[in-house]
Amino acid sequence: MRAAVLSEQPGALVIEDLSIDSPGPGEVLIETVGAGLCHSDLHFMEGLFRTTLPIVMGHESAGIVEAVGDGVDYVQPGDHVVACLSIFCGQCPQCLSGHPNRCANPKATSRPKGAPPRLTRADGTPVDQMARLGGFAEQMLVHQNGLVKVIEEMPLDKACLIGCGITTGFGAVVRTAGVEVGSTVCVIGAGGIGLSAIQGARIAGANKVIVVDVSSSKLETAGQLGGTHFVNASETDDVVGAVREISDGGVDYSFEAIGRSQTVRQAFDMLAVGGTATVIGMVPSKDGKAVCGAISPALSAARGVSTITPRR
Ligand SMILES: NC(=O)c1ccc[n+]([C@@H]2O[C@H](COP(=O)([O-])OP(=O)(O)OC[C@H]3O[C@@H](n4cnc5c(N)ncnc54)[C@H](O)[C@@H]3O)[C@@H](O)[C@H]2O)c1
Ligand SMILES: [Zn+2]
Ligand SMILES: [Zn+2]
Repeated sequence: MRAAVLSEQPGALVIEDLSIDSPGPGEVLIETVGAGLCHSDLHFMEGLFRTTLPIVMGHESAGIVEAVGDGVDYVQPGDHVVACLSIFCGQCPQCLSGHPNRCANPKATSRPKGAPPRLTRADGTPVDQMARLGGFAEQMLVHQNGLVKVIEEMPLDKACLIGCGITTGFGAVVRTAGVEVGSTVCVIGAGGIGLSAIQGARIAGANKVIVVDVSSSKLETAGQLGGTHFVNASETDDVVGAVREISDGGVDYSFEAIGRSQTVRQAFDMLAVGGTATVIGMVPSKDGKAVCGAISPALSAARGVSTITPRR
């Protein structure tokens, strides 16, 4: 099957023909129908976060189940599924305390050491999978605990976005920060994550939803999805001042959805007294080298979006 492979960092994706193994115990083979491009894929391609190579990128994909391995009871061939990067074991303290998105036992849902790799090149070289999914490929071989069934009527080229972007942005607003009705919110960055956060803020009943971006077309889209006030960061040197003016002194909740230290700083500086900043973006370390040694820890750390309420 064909897949988009990253072989060096920084590097571009190259389409290669790879072999994919049959599903082992607990595993599911999926025909990929839709895939989204999340900026986290780009961070790895740019070399800002390190990973094992070669690797099939993509972690936001949906498709149709082709075959299942022993012990798979959640799905069967023909089911429509979204692949999720929060693959949970269901047994570790995090899973048992209601936080399967923070599962601390990836071994339980990976192939054991010494087992044949899921993906290989023609010469037998093992090829890794981004977030243990490898969604930029004609087929995915993943653990059943990384799948969510969806109804057949749902178009899979849109359903795939639930796998990362929508869940991350919406969840940061509604679950991590817990935005309340009537509050004032600012979302910095109106890409896939930010637009989902904006929709979360609208659904949570925020009064003002201030959106900051450098692109006027992104700000326009943000207006269609729930943004109420807009700051074009390419037209002002004082983003914080502009947001403070619109919000009469600061926002109750800010969300950084870009992954830059400069905009993380803005997220804190624009808070009202008692406000909460939530950093969703993956911010590379200062020297641009590895923050985490492998993809799964990097992503699970990122998914535990940090919320900090400064004392004033
Ligand atoms: N925490 C998680 O689990 C998680 C999940 C997915 C993505 N992420 C991270 O979230 C971040 C955003 O991802 P995305 O896919 O939405 O990216 P994206 O590229 O789609 O969107 C980024 C947006 O930021 C805007 N932007 C860039 N520089 C700016 C600046 N200085 N000021 C204002 N706006 C600016 C861009 O115009 C763009 O609209 C990335 O760091 C990504 O890795 C985190
Ligand atoms: Zn993502
Ligand atoms: Zn677990």
